[in-house]
Amino acid sequence: MQPTPFKLERYFAQHEFTARHLLCSSDPESMSIGELLAFEPGSIDGLRETWLGYTEHPGAPALRRELATLCENVRDDEIIVHTGAQEAIYSFMSSMLAPGDHVIVHMPGYQSHYSVAEAMGVKVSPWKAREQAGWAVDPDELEALVTPATRALVICAPHNPTGYLPSRDVFDAIVAFARRHELWLFSDEVYRGLEHDPADRLPAACDVYERAISLGALSKTHGLAGLRLGWIATKSAEVLRRMSTFKDYLTISNSAPGEYLAAIAVRHTDALIARSIDIVRSNLCLLDDFFTRRADRFEWHRPRAGTIGFVRLKHGHAEQFCAELLERTGVLLLPSTLIDYGDAHFRLGFGRRNMPDVLAILDAHLDATATSTAS
Ligand SMILES: Cc1ncc(COP(=O)(O)O)c(C=O)c1O
Repeated sequence: MQPTPFKLERYFAQHEFTARHLLCSSDPESMSIGELLAFEPGSIDGLRETWLGYTEHPGAPALRRELATLCENVRDDEIIVHTGAQEAIYSFMSSMLAPGDHVIVHMPGYQSHYSVAEAMGVKVSPWKAREQAGWAVDPDELEALVTPATRALVICAPHNPTGYLPSRDVFDAIVAFARRHELWLFSDEVYRGLEHDPADRLPAACDVYERAISLGALSKTHGLAGLRLGWIATKSAEVLRRMSTFKDYLTISNSAPGEYLAAIAVRHTDALIARSIDIVRSNLCLLDDFFTRRADRFEWHRPRAGTIGFVRLKHGHAEQFCAELLERTGVLLLPSTLIDYGDAHFRLGFGRRNMPDVLAILDAHLDATATSTAS
């Protein structure tokens, strides 16, 4: 199987560590190991004593016990730890789908939600978000997409790249649809916890539907992408068995120091969320002002959750706009051509502490290019 190149990741491979200013990152401000250990005095001794033999295949029991606390009804033996969320997506698609199957995928979206399936010979139908409705999806459209071959519905909430978060009613309608058709509900929840209003938090899908697979990671909500730690949680014994078997051909087990650090992070989930949300809220205030002043150039639907939003350019092409911005200022945005969504949008990230400075560079660039266009 040879999936088509993951365009967004190829772009980051080229630019993430060379661009002077990042303005499209989805992972919020991170921290050093020292800052994480400071949440638990004495934990440095535990790190020093961490045994560097193999860890347990589904993840260290101590870590899985912590992860289970993030759900309501899931036990630690209903969780499999993976190396980042990405490994778990690949494993789910590879172990639960087969050529000739059909899946419905929320789009625009994260490319591995559909490219791995497509490469396997699985037919993918997009369930399209509607920009004019604030990037909402409509559950009433799902019945028209289902076929006798449909095996799974793939959703992402809070959503990458739009920051859309369904209401509880919409979420319930999605679950009811999946249950009616006995579909796997693969629910990418890597931004869960980053709701801008905590009252909007949805349940983990695995808590409300027996054929749901909730995907979590420490990369986004906890701001610890370098730990490379993700997991799936599900009540389905079949999924647990098949994904465990598949993991034998991937990383087998996780990194022992990574699992030790991850358990600390999960114990301090509330504090880590508060840290990210503080940054997000103050950055969003600046973006409100920016997009009001720049309404002639951009259309912006303020996200309800997460660290990213999807902006429409009212004139011009996103790829050219982003390339010029990068060349002249060193600011990196992500054009929608890399998300398989035309050439009029870009992804903007607002989870980093330096966003105000980078936004000011973008602002100045817009002034400078407006002047040079006028002259
Ligand atoms: C929606 C979504 N799912 C999964 C991933 C992959 O996460 P990880 O870095 O933990 O592999 C990302 C990363 O950007 C993402 O945005």
